[in-house]
Amino acid sequence: MKITVIGAGNVGATTAQRLVDRQLANEVVIVDILEGIPQGKALDIYESTPVEKTDVRVTGTNGYAETAGSDIIVITAGIARKPGMSRDDLMNTNSGIVKSCTEQAVAKSPKAILVVVSNPLDVMTYVAMKVSGFPRERVVGMAGVLDTARFRSFIALELNVSVEDVTAFVLGGHGDSMVPLARYSTVAGIPIPELLSKEALDRLIKRTRDGGIEIVNYLKTGSAYYAPSAAAVQMVESIVKDKKRILPSSVYLQGEYGIRDTFVGVPVKLGRGGMEEIIQIKLNADEQAALNKSASEVAAQIAKLKL
Ligand code: APR
Repeated sequence: MKITVIGAGNVGATTAQRLVDRQLANEVVIVDILEGIPQGKALDIYESTPVEKTDVRVTGTNGYAETAGSDIIVITAGIARKPGMSRDDLMNTNSGIVKSCTEQAVAKSPKAILVVVSNPLDVMTYVAMKVSGFPRERVVGMAGVLDTARFRSFIALELNVSVEDVTAFVLGGHGDSMVPLARYSTVAGIPIPELLSKEALDRLIKRTRDGGIEIVNYLKTGSAYYAPSAAAVQMVESIVKDKKRILPSSVYLQGEYGIRDTFVGVPVKLGRGGMEEIIQIKLNADEQAALNKSASEVAAQIAKLKL
């Protein structure tokens, strides 16, 4: 198993470190345009392997020759969101970056599965699919695992229970239009509307929706990376180990949920084939309307792309 991580910034380097710590590959390659940064971070991570007892070769590079034959490519390259900047402001800069990285990476690894992390997430995942020419099964975007992790953390804090017992369900695009489904979010199987007041639920949903910006406002010069990298690695793990976990991911819909030709977050089965199945559930009218709105916002952004 060979995994390439493109972007040696906060998200990319932390993703690489987690992949190595968990020994999810024999070889991890980190790519960045900055000279010395991927090489230095890769060497530093590699030097942790005797301590962590993980036999993983880690290399850093400014080119793509070393990435040849990768099974999975995690794309984190791009600029991070700054205070006052919406994910949408990032679109033009990051689409050029994701396009160029994808073109170069897939030329060397035509069979890889792409896991996109760069924002705005759903649009960047579309860029990666379009530019790679890969089937939709091999291009997935990381957003829902992060959004549900945030929602689960806040529910656990509010109810003072273990995060392990909290599951959450979020549909839709990553960002302001995400659609948390409270009735499918549970604590030890109990739907959370039975445990939380409407006021508390609305407050936690709002905090989840604004989860990214809450961190940006603290950090000022960067955006979240510990939880995003953990979320990306959970998706990678399900693919590497063919676990067939059902994880919310951004995928290209072709009529599922009544939506077509756009990327949006829905529950999918992730295994060695990438996105192996889209899990469809029956939505009520409000939920469907919220998902449609979210999908049409992503579609409107995709329509503005100049690839
Ligand atoms: N090729 C390779 N790497 C690139 C390219 C490129 N064309 N352009 C930029 N990069 C690299 C930068 O040099 C930098 O090292 O991408 C890295 C981004 O790192 P950070 O600025 O630390 O950003 P990070 O916090 O890692 O976020 C990366 O993930 O969660 C999203 O919104 C976030 O889109 C952002 C991305």
